[in-house]
Amino acid sequence: MDPEIMEKLAEEIKNMDFKMGEIQGVLFPESTCDIWDKIYNFQAREDDILVATFPKAGTTWMQEIVDLIMLNGDVERSMRAPCFVKVPFIDIHPKPMPTGVDTASAMESPRLLKTHLPIQLVPPSFLEKNVKVIYVARNAKDCMVSYFYFQQVNKTLPHPGTWDEYFSTFLAGKVPWGSWFDHVIGWWKAKDKYQILYVFYEDMIEDPKREIRKVSTFLGKELTEDVLDTICHHTSFNAMKENPMTNYSVLPSFVFDQSISPFMRKGKVGDWKNHFLVAQNLIFDEVYKKKMEGSGLHFRTEL
Ligand code: A3P
Repeated sequence: MDPEIMEKLAEEIKNMDFKMGEIQGVLFPESTCDIWDKIYNFQAREDDILVATFPKAGTTWMQEIVDLIMLNGDVERSMRAPCFVKVPFIDIHPKPMPTGVDTASAMESPRLLKTHLPIQLVPPSFLEKNVKVIYVARNAKDCMVSYFYFQQVNKTLPHPGTWDEYFSTFLAGKVPWGSWFDHVIGWWKAKDKYQILYVFYEDMIEDPKREIRKVSTFLGKELTEDVLDTICHHTSFNAMKENPMTNYSVLPSFVFDQSISPFMRKGKVGDWKNHFLVAQNLIFDEVYKKKMEGSGLHFRTEL
């Protein structure tokens, strides 16, 4: 990265007050709220592909899979740039860099884009143009644990506090990008109205090749078994952990401090068991039951 931009970025982070703003009751970094009209009025194109997730659901994993599907498994070309450069994140303004929407607008088609927005806040042009969306959902307990670490690592997000504190904050939906419950349910309800493929992180862990095939069929790409195997191999946890284009090691530690926890942390189903106290688990299950009742959604918290 350009040393001048790095210096400005360091300055931005040093002066950050981590105040969060709200859009329709959903918490976002203030820098997102400041450009909200611009985000909401973003113009999608019919051949865009959008990867949508609640934070920590496996966004980077799916981005990498889709990129490789579009490239027919060409690993060398998939390594042309870090994942966060290849795939603009339309919800953010990583000052002093351009906004995610400006970066996306300057990109040639076909574009692969990323969002963490809940469905009700997605720029309407995505839905009007019936853009293909791949939504990855991950069980709330593992998402909570992963986000707890990530809010310590990512220096542009507020510190999560203690695990006890974070447990309550997350359950109350007072984390950046809002309530996990509203997010997964909102996208689930929309999935049959639009071209939305709803994929579960736990299914990807269980049988990555099966899920990659599902995504490629959804995108209208019929890939050979060899290509599917290549994509499977290149997007395995171990391969992505070692790949500087996917493990965020190109970012300086004043942005992502991976000495606290690596971005590619565990990549497992059920790590929540190492963090949830028995009492927390009881509270969680009770809240979960109430919030998810009648949603028709079923998550696995262990395999
Ligand atoms: P953990 O913190 O539980 O390890 P996101 O990209 O949405 O921020 O999600 C990050 C989470 O997905 C992290 O979870 C990370 O380890 C996991 N992840 C990323 N790539 C993965 C892969 N190839 N296989 C399994 N998990 C992966």
